[in-house]
Amino acid sequence: MQVRDTAETFGLPSRLLHWLAALTIALAWTVGTVMGDLPRGPSRAAGTDLHFALGTLVLTLTALRLLWRLTNPLPAPPPGTPAWQDWAARLGHLGLYLLMVAVPLSGVFAAWLGGKSINLFWVTALASPWARDRAWEKAAEEAHEVLANLLLFLVVAHVVAALWHHFVHHDGLLHRMLPRR
Ligand code: HEM
Ligand code: HEM
Repeated sequence: MQVRDTAETFGLPSRLLHWLAALTIALAWTVGTVMGDLPRGPSRAAGTDLHFALGTLVLTLTALRLLWRLTNPLPAPPPGTPAWQDWAARLGHLGLYLLMVAVPLSGVFAAWLGGKSINLFWVTALASPWARDRAWEKAAEEAHEVLANLLLFLVVAHVVAALWHHFVHHDGLLHRMLPRR
C-alpha cells in the first residue's frame, strides 16, 4: 500500500480525502438546497443541523488534505500534456481548494451573524460570538449561496475534464485517484 504521493500518482490518504470530501460536499450541497424549502419547524431545524455538521466536516477534510498536499510531492501531468492544459488544471484545482475553504467559512459567518450555534455532529456546538445582525446575516447568506454555486460549477467542469481524460485520452489519469486494482 502506497501512502505518500509521488511524481507518478496519489497515495492512499490523498485518494481517501478526495472522495470523502467529494461525497461530503455533494451531501452538504443537497441538504443546503433542500433545507431552505422546508417549512420552519423541527424538520428544517434537523436539516440545518445536518447541513452544519456536513459543512464543518468538509472544512476539516479540506484542512487535512491541504496539509497533506503541502508536505508531499505533486504527481506530474500525464506525458504529452500541453502546457496550457497543465496550467488550466492547476488553476482549476486552486479554485476548488479556495472554494472548499471559502464556502464552509462563509456558512459559518452566515450562521453566527444570524446568532445561531453550529452543531458539530450532535456532540457539541459552537455558540455564536455575536448577537444576530440581520443585514450582515443576509450579506453572508448571499455570499455563501454565490460561492456554493461557483463551487458546483467548478466541480462540474472538473468532472467533465476527468471523464474526458478517461474516455477520450485513455491516459490513466483517473486511476491516480481511484482505488488501486
Ligand atoms: C465535490 C467534488 C470534487 C471536488 C471538490 C474535487 C476536488 C479535487 C481537487 C482539489 C483535486 C486536485 C488534487 C491535487 O492536485 O491536490 C482533484 C483531483 C482529481 N479529481 Fe477531483 N474533485 C471532485 C470530484 C471528482 C470526481 C467526481 C472525479 C471523477 C469523475 C474526480 C477526479 C479527479 C482526478 C482524476 C483527480 C487527479 C487529477 C490529477 O491527477 O492531476 N474528482 N479533485
Ligand atoms: C462545502 C460545504 C457547504 C456547502 C456546499 C453548502 C451549500 C449550501 C447551499 C447550496 C445552501 C442553500 C443556499 C440557498 O439556496 O439559499 C446553503 C445554505 C446555508 N448554509 Fe451552507 N454549505 C456548506 C457549508 C456550510 C457551513 C459549514 C455552514 C455553517 C456552519 C453553513 C451554513 C449555511 C446556512 C446558515 C445556510 C442558510 C442560508 C441561506 O438560506 O441562504 N453551510 N449552504
